[in-house]
Amino acid sequence: MPTSRTLRVGMIGYNFMGKAHSNAWRQAGRFFDLPATIELATLCGRSRSAVESARDRLGWAKASTDWREVVEDPSIDIIDVSTPNDTHAEIAIAAARAGKAVLCEKPLALTVKECEAMVDAVKKAGVVHMICHNYRRIPAIALARQMIEAGELGDRIYHYRARYAQDWITDPEFPLVWRLQSKIAGSGTHGDINAHIIDLGRYLVGEFSEVCGTMETFIKQRPVLGATGSGLSAKKGKKLGRVTVDDAVTLIGRFRNGALANLEATRFAYGRKNHITLEINGSKGSLAFNFEDMNRLQFFRADDPEGRRGFRDILVTEGAHPYAGSWWPPGHIIGYEHTFVHTFADFVQAVVKGKPVQPTFVDGLRNQQVLEAIEQSSRSRQWVRVG
Ligand SMILES: NC(=O)c1ccc[n+]([C@@H]2O[C@H](COP(=O)([O-])OP(=O)(O)OC[C@H]3O[C@@H](n4cnc5c(N)ncnc54)[C@H](O)[C@@H]3O)[C@@H](O)[C@H]2O)c1
Repeated sequence: MPTSRTLRVGMIGYNFMGKAHSNAWRQAGRFFDLPATIELATLCGRSRSAVESARDRLGWAKASTDWREVVEDPSIDIIDVSTPNDTHAEIAIAAARAGKAVLCEKPLALTVKECEAMVDAVKKAGVVHMICHNYRRIPAIALARQMIEAGELGDRIYHYRARYAQDWITDPEFPLVWRLQSKIAGSGTHGDINAHIIDLGRYLVGEFSEVCGTMETFIKQRPVLGATGSGLSAKKGKKLGRVTVDDAVTLIGRFRNGALANLEATRFAYGRKNHITLEINGSKGSLAFNFEDMNRLQFFRADDPEGRRGFRDILVTEGAHPYAGSWWPPGHIIGYEHTFVHTFADFVQAVVKGKPVQPTFVDGLRNQQVLEAIEQSSRSRQWVRVG
């Protein structure tokens, strides 16, 4: 466990999440009172010229093309795994064995089996570990959790409804990027974005007990990836290849505490870019949230006086709200990148104290158990128990 007051980070992967994470590592100590200085030590990718250019652009000290070298470097305290899903288990396990604190992107791995091996490795090594479900640390979501815990929605939660909708692969000509290949991604929309609303359900409501879901691949073949571009800017090649993951998933479920779940995740909702909407109904009130208006939380109280009831609109930017007081005066809103800053600030606190920090790899494992139960349900057309 690192004892020094400087924590040196080695980050594997430097593209979409690499950019968000680089910013968060740099900003965390500037806005939160942290017990350690964070040093952006080594950035790792596969191509020498690309990783060196990313090192300069994102502000890292060194560049490497071999993640093993970074993991084994004795001067590194924290390994940040920001690579595609098929590499998470191997890198995170090696990092834990080398005694590093590990922060790993979601989904934790490709399968429950891999997740179990990762949990095993971090527990054996006794290292601090976290899965990057950053949406937990949107101030409005953290506030929702506080309100539910304090009983403001009542002692029973009846419903958790969540939708995560995007549209970036609706065009059948969009190429076969890694997110559409099961060998690399594990699953499609399911592990990529349904995993987030499953995590928020577990965070806000409780553990799932059983699920009944259905998954669909609308476009079965796509142009293979061309020579240039990645992610949303990917260019298509000439040949066609098979899509081996789901495009959309929809499910109902039950939580152990008796609440009902209703979830939908899709990348085929034209006009929806990163549309995460939640509604939670309890015995004394309701909460509603929309990520595209992420500084607000809607709250309905059943005990408001008759004739005055209605959803109130809380602008979650005040000192009394989680994380918000570390930024700007009330009403000066924050955005997507701040969710990572909050996550990393809490992670650094935990690493210095040597204490667990949610969501842990066990949360990643439980999430994967829900994902796999839904997959099994979709295949068998039956309800499936979770875990
Ligand atoms: N928390 C979130 O909201 C969120 C959002 C997007 C992605 N993610 C997760 O983050 C991870 C990365 O996604 P992304 O969108 O940044 O992908 P990306 O394709 O944009 O970037 C992946 C990076 O990994 C590098 N890489 C791949 N294999 C490597 C290897 N063997 N060694 C070193 N580097 C390697 C690539 O060069 C690239 O820099 C995925 O697991 C994804 O599910 C999480």
